[in-house]
Amino acid sequence: MDPRPIGVFDSGVGGLTVVRQLQKILPSEHILYFGDTARVPYGGRDRETLLGYARQVLSFMQSHQVKAVVAACGTISTTCLPRLQEESDLPMVGVMDPACRRSIEVTRSGKVGVIATQASINSGVYQRTIEACGNVQQVTAQACPKLVPLVESGRCSTDDVETMEALREYLEPMQRDQVDTLLLGCTHYPLLSEAIRAILGPEVTLVDSGAEAAGHLMQMLQQRDMLAPKGPGSLQLYASGQPEPFAALAERILGEPCHALQLDIERY
Ligand code: DGL
Repeated sequence: MDPRPIGVFDSGVGGLTVVRQLQKILPSEHILYFGDTARVPYGGRDRETLLGYARQVLSFMQSHQVKAVVAACGTISTTCLPRLQEESDLPMVGVMDPACRRSIEVTRSGKVGVIATQASINSGVYQRTIEACGNVQQVTAQACPKLVPLVESGRCSTDDVETMEALREYLEPMQRDQVDTLLLGCTHYPLLSEAIRAILGPEVTLVDSGAEAAGHLMQMLQQRDMLAPKGPGSLQLYASGQPEPFAALAERILGEPCHALQLDIERY
């Protein structure tokens, strides 16, 4: 047993898709969440910059004695996670591998689509990992740079004209290639699931990278006997940008009252 908190981080609110699943499957855990809202979006940034940001976040997490970290960000997971794992003894999981494995399991036709940020798609890591698992005929990949800013502004509804227009543009290659499984390779995108389903229909299975990562972390903590003792869990939110709008959005996503503190991440 290990009562220390789990650290979870992302460029903004996307990683809360990991948190909401963790709260479901591991309700006794204490979670420390950091959203780098002063520097969002990450998806257009280069690897060295992202590595610098992630090192700062890990140093903040370590100062809070976390027992494990979830890089709840597809962009960090595809560009710098192996390097961060080499540099630290802290158990660390990302969102890429578990989601690729799930996509392979659920596809029936072998035609899998992946949508993610520009940096993730440019890295080619999702495409290579899915293809390496075999059993896949075709991977259709699409970068979606307009989506993270829309989600960060809370514009996820099917009534939002700009959001629906952007999604129609990005999902057109998926319809053309008749994918039966779509991997949501950026943790912000599960917040658009309803809008994505409205366009693709119920036949396409959506794979939520955030939820898959939470399941993976649970297994890892179980294997290492690092789960928290039974009792009420907790959530502490930090944001590098304005904490009030961040907390308001977190409240909508998690369906519970939320309070966030501002963190000067440049100090780390
Ligand atoms: N949630 C991050 C991801 O999974 C968003 C990256 C961004 O800020 O562009 O990739």
